[in-house]
Amino acid sequence: MRLGFLGCGVIASAVVRGLAGKGHQITVSQRSATHSAALAAAYKDVTVAANQAVVDASDLVFLGLMAETAEAVLNELTFRADQKVVSFMAGADLDHVADWAAPAAAAAVMIPFPGIAQGGSPVMALGDTALLAGLFEPDNRVFALRSNAELKAYLSAQAVLSPAARLVGDAADWLGQRVSDPVQAEDFLRMLVSANLQASGCADLIEALNTPGGFNQRLRLHMEEAGMRENLSAGLSELER
Ligand SMILES: NC(=O)c1ccc[n+]([C@@H]2O[C@H](COP(=O)([O-])OP(=O)(O)OC[C@H]3O[C@@H](n4cnc5c(N)ncnc54)[C@H](OP(=O)(O)O)[C@@H]3O)[C@@H](O)[C@H]2O)c1
Repeated sequence: MRLGFLGCGVIASAVVRGLAGKGHQITVSQRSATHSAALAAAYKDVTVAANQAVVDASDLVFLGLMAETAEAVLNELTFRADQKVVSFMAGADLDHVADWAAPAAAAAVMIPFPGIAQGGSPVMALGDTALLAGLFEPDNRVFALRSNAELKAYLSAQAVLSPAARLVGDAADWLGQRVSDPVQAEDFLRMLVSANLQASGCADLIEALNTPGGFNQRLRLHMEEAGMRENLSAGLSELER
């Protein structure tokens, strides 16, 4: 497909890296210049252009802009009725995107994560999920959402990623102070957590690690007694509000 990217920041760059070399013709907007130049240097199928030239060269245009600036940026541009637009913008719903990119069709809101560059990453999507599955699966998995309310709830819950990384990172720092190779220590803990969660549902994993008096049970109960579950639930509800 002829794919365009308006806004070439952190997340657009990751998506481009995931799609490059797969037979698409990709045009990215010049901003951010550091990102767009690096993509063009790395991939033969990526070209840098001004915003209107990105739109003109594309059948499907991805919006990697900040929601606060998107309306002003898109109002400057002319879209075609035979085009589709997919937005990465967490802060703009599909109806607004449809107004800003008319007469193009606002096909979907898609919330990717940086891991999409390598594959194996979840993608949250509301709208034409078949279109996105065709582009991003089977390297990644597209999770279809059914309403703005579901998108909002998923957006809140996905924020568990940062505290989860903090937990593993702090345990790795603790371990790193006690062993000869701190890098190996962090590698071990990251693999331990990611591989076991990949292989098993959360409730089953907790049960499997629930040997009475075992280290896993003792640490979990220690943290639960310190309010971990109540704090998480309150934080998620606050995000949703
Ligand atoms: N980061 C994530 O993990 C993630 C995940 C899912 C969704 N999102 C969503 O994706 C969007 C972008 O996030 P991000 O983290 O990638 O932010 P970012 O790195 O700041 O990307 C925003 C991009 O928009 C560019 N831009 C600003 N004005 C422009 C204009 N007039 N024309 C063309 N480009 C312009 C910026 O260029 P300059 O740098 O030159 O200003 C920058 O490249 C946000 O709406 C966010 O909600 C992000």
